Amino acid sequence: MEDWSDCLDVAVQIALRAGQVVHLAVKQEKRVSSKSTPTDLVTESDHQVEELIISTLSEKYPSHRFIGEESSAAGVKCELTDSPTWIIDPIDGTCNFVHSFPMVAVSIGFAVRKELEFGVIYHCFDGTLYTARKGHGAFCNGVRLHVSKEKDVSKALILTEIGAKRDPATLDIFLGNIKKLLSAPTHGVRIIGSSTLALCHIASGAAEAYYQYGLHCWDIAAAAVIIREAGGCVMDTTGGPLDLMSRRVVAAGTREIADYVVKQLLPINYGRDDSEPDAHA
Ligand code: IPD
Repeated sequence: MEDWSDCLDVAVQIALRAGQVVHLAVKQEKRVSSKSTPTDLVTESDHQVEELIISTLSEKYPSHRFIGEESSAAGVKCELTDSPTWIIDPIDGTCNFVHSFPMVAVSIGFAVRKELEFGVIYHCFDGTLYTARKGHGAFCNGVRLHVSKEKDVSKALILTEIGAKRDPATLDIFLGNIKKLLSAPTHGVRIIGSSTLALCHIASGAAEAYYQYGLHCWDIAAAAVIIREAGGCVMDTTGGPLDLMSRRVVAAGTREIADYVVKQLLPINYGRDDSEPDAHA
């Protein structure tokens, strides 16, 4: 039975290299365009970094499959099969990257037989490296991570992200969900502009729960392993098992807080990552 530790080592090396490219590019002028909506941004660097990661990995692992944010946006079918599959977000927090707001990450997840095996997330501004392999714990710069054990929602800090849809009906639901969680009351709600880094904060115990409608499989894949290995739970917004392609997630340090969040949420429908590419938003 393969333990995929060699692949994890390679993922770490390529995430560090990609992170350096992103870090240098932050200071350069950027050509920005939009994808599914005017707020769903992409830059030349997103494409360059994805190409760097996928070309390096496919040369090393020619039989492996790849799901990448920019390849998917370009129309490559986003399909998770039983084959070893790398799930890549070259720049998570592209809007932050455009503004040089210091919350930007490279995220590389790896799944085999549709099971997530390991995840690597590199924070391109402060050089923090999050890693986890199934059954072997989660680490931040080599130091073991543990989620918050808080069960009382009135002492919880909750994280979320906005998603690309900004029509009035979506915003009403989005703000309604925040209002419910603020009035629980919780300690607060934070939005940092990077799903993967927000999820890393759940793994490190800096916040108690995360939820979002509208993220993608490349935003969740690596982070899900890191949170689970740090002792937390990652699930669907209905409370069922996580569906990587469903574009929605609840993650928390404890099941009690996850269940509470699940009960408060009204759904926002973003479709699925594995539906036809032009359905993405
Ligand atoms: C996005 C960011 C954003 C979140 C979106 C993600 P990207 O990733 O994490 O904060 O709201 O759902 O897709 O486009 O910057 O890689």
